[in-house]
Amino acid sequence: MIFASDNWAGASQPVMDAMVRHNTGAAPAYGTDPLTLKVRDRFREIFETDDLTVWFTATGTAANALTMAACARPGGLVLTSDIAHVLCDEWGATEFFSHGMKMVPVETRNGRISAQALSRELAKHPAGSRFGTPVAVSLTQASECGTVYPLDELAALTGVAKERDLVCHMDGARFANALVHLGCSPAEMTWKAGIDALSFGGTKNGCWCAEAIVVFNQDALRDLAAHRSRAGHLFSKSRFVAAQLDGYLENGHWLDSARHANAMASRLAEGLTASGHALAHPVEANEVFPVLDFATIARLREAGAAFYEWPEIEAGEGTSGVRLVTSFATTSEEVARFLEIAAG
Ligand SMILES: Cc1ncc(COP(=O)(O)O)c(C=O)c1O
Repeated sequence: MIFASDNWAGASQPVMDAMVRHNTGAAPAYGTDPLTLKVRDRFREIFETDDLTVWFTATGTAANALTMAACARPGGLVLTSDIAHVLCDEWGATEFFSHGMKMVPVETRNGRISAQALSRELAKHPAGSRFGTPVAVSLTQASECGTVYPLDELAALTGVAKERDLVCHMDGARFANALVHLGCSPAEMTWKAGIDALSFGGTKNGCWCAEAIVVFNQDALRDLAAHRSRAGHLFSKSRFVAAQLDGYLENGHWLDSARHANAMASRLAEGLTASGHALAHPVEANEVFPVLDFATIARLREAGAAFYEWPEIEAGEGTSGVRLVTSFATTSEEVARFLEIAAG
C-alpha cells in the first residue's frame, strides 16, 4: 500500500523497454543523437506547433529554476502560489539560478490561484518599485493540492499576467494527470492558454529520470542553452533521457498511466468519503488529502501503508491531514485493502 509519493514507483515497463532498445552501438553525444532529435519532433507533434524548443533536465526542480533563470531580470519578482513546490520545496533553486529574483506568494484556494488574487498581488508591485518588478508567474498544473486549473481559469490568469508583460510558466510535474482530467489537448492546456514555458514532468508518471523544459515563446526565454549547460544539465548521453521519453510518449502510454493513477485516486476518494472520512481538497488528479483520526492512521501504518501526514491541512482534535498519492503502479488491490482498513 504505497501512497507516499508517485516518486516511490519504479519506472514503467515501456520506459525500461525503450532504455534497453536504444542501448545499442554508439550515438553522437550532447543532444545531437538521432533519438534526441526524434523526441524533440515528437514534442512538436504532441503540442501541435513547430515553434517549440525542448530542453531535457534530470529533475523538476532544475526545469523550474532554469526556466526562471532564462527569463530573469535584475530585481525581478516571480509570483506563484503560496504552497507552490517552486516556492516551498526547492531550496531556493529559482532564487539562486535567477541571480536573486524574489518569489512572491499569492493566496490560494485548494492549491489554485484565482485571476482576482493575482491581480490584487500585482497591484502591490508597480513597475520600478524598490521591492522589485514582476517578471514571471508560475502556475502548477496539477496543483500541489491535486486540483486542476480549468482552461478558462488558466486563460484568465495568463490574461492578467500578460497585461503586465509577465512570462507565464507552468510547473507540469503532474502535467499528464491534469491533461487527462481535463480531457483537452496539450496545446490547449499550454500555449493556447497563454503559457510561455512548461516544466514537463515524466518521472512521477513512469520515467526513471526524465523531465523537459518546453518553450513556446522563444523571445521570453533567453540563453536557455547556456543556463542549462552551466547548471550541469546538458546530458552527454542524452539519448537515454530521450529513450525514456520515447517509451513514455509512445502509443499514448503516458496518458494511459495518468488515467490509471487518477482512477485509483478517485476510487480512494470515493471509498474514504463513503466510510465517513472528510477530504480537504477536491480530487481531480492523482492526490487525495483525507483527514483521518489517529486510530485509523495507526491501523493503516501497522498494516504497512506508506503515506505522509500533511501538516498544512487544518485538522481537528485527534485527527491529522494525510496525503495519498497514486501512480501508474498503484493496484486496485492496494486501494481496496487501504479502504478496508480505513473503514475500521
Ligand atoms: C509540483 C511539483 N513540482 C516540481 C517538483 C520537482 O520535482 P523534482 O523532485 O524532480 O525536483 C515536484 C516534486 O515533488 C512537485 O511535486
